[in-house]
Amino acid sequence: MYVSEKAKNIKASTTLAIDSKFKAMKAEGLDVVGFGAGEPDFDTPEYIKKAAIEAIQTGKTKYTPAAGTMELRKAVAEKFSRENGLTYEPTQIVVSNGAKHSLVNAFMAILNPGDEVIIPAPFWVSYPEMVKLADGVPVIVESTEEADFKVTVDALEKVLTAKTRALVLNSPSNPTGMVYTKDELQKIADFAVKHDLYVISDEIYEHLIYEGKHVSIASLGEDIKNRTIIINGVSKTYAMTGWRIGFAAAAPEIAKIMANVQSHASSNPNSIAQAATVAALSGGKEEIETMKKAFVERRNYMVERINSIDGVSCKKPNGAFYVLMNISKIKGRTIAGKLIRTSDDFAELFLQEAKVAVVPCSGFGNDDFVRWSYAVSMETIKEGLDRLEKFLA
Ligand SMILES: Cc1ncc(COP(=O)(O)O)c(C=O)c1O
Repeated sequence: MYVSEKAKNIKASTTLAIDSKFKAMKAEGLDVVGFGAGEPDFDTPEYIKKAAIEAIQTGKTKYTPAAGTMELRKAVAEKFSRENGLTYEPTQIVVSNGAKHSLVNAFMAILNPGDEVIIPAPFWVSYPEMVKLADGVPVIVESTEEADFKVTVDALEKVLTAKTRALVLNSPSNPTGMVYTKDELQKIADFAVKHDLYVISDEIYEHLIYEGKHVSIASLGEDIKNRTIIINGVSKTYAMTGWRIGFAAAAPEIAKIMANVQSHASSNPNSIAQAATVAALSGGKEEIETMKKAFVERRNYMVERINSIDGVSCKKPNGAFYVLMNISKIKGRTIAGKLIRTSDDFAELFLQEAKVAVVPCSGFGNDDFVRWSYAVSMETIKEGLDRLEKFLA
């Protein structure tokens, strides 16, 4: 069958694949526990749901401007001013169908065929595929567990070519949970300015930081702000994954191009979810604090348990809700008659034998790890780790 070579080249998301396998096993009635999902297990706060119901009742059910209602773009600009010390005009804000969509718009807006985009590994599974969708070339830079999975400017300099256009930054990171400090960001900002690069700064986990403080790289000066496209949204912070609202802030010319691209691809994001997002951004932060408290407790427990089990280990992440478990000592071992050579082998066997779903990091650019999400209940975490202990024993 005749199909697009470019589309054929796009890999399926490993995270979504594991999650759907987990859900299928659960539907079959199997006693399976899942750590694949990248979404809070909390419900969307009541005041946000109420705003959505009111939006339906007051007829906010029509097309809106493609880049979002002016009310929401203003609320997003105010959020950037209040929380990040950044001044944007509402016209510099583009609201999309989730942060994922904002990212695709951003790559579509800045890349020409063959342009290179530096992506530090381990990376969120979608970045390289999004770059390829926009005819760009992903260039991966390794980082090490010893260096807290952070990239240095030295490593970035090594992969720089005449075709490098942009750098992806994701702090706090999915999957590593690491958070760049202001000093580290300043060095990366200087590098980007020096080499005239765009920075795609994915800050979707900014409110889920347990030690330290979030700094947006765009807040480090006008030069870096002008070349940064900030990506953010309400999915993780407000437990609104299903509502599909993300947003971007960028230089006026870039925001305009992103809005144009979106106007032909999907038009505006859902009008009701937009109204609910205005309420989310303007509301109190009590629910976020409750969620954060639970995440810290779960993270601490998970990290301690993993590090007490022979053969596996992990670093303590400072943000997001994932733990990367190092399985390099398990690779080469035979468990239940099966040789484990890759993180895919591990994840498949762990799911099959112990009925625990974790995400192999082959798709995240480092095959020595699997990712556990702790956006699940404490009981689930205990059960999953009990099963890990038995599986490895
Ligand atoms: C790093 C990162 N960026 C973006 C997204 C996408 O968020 P959204 O659900 O708003 O599209 C995710 C979701 O898993 C993520 O982990």
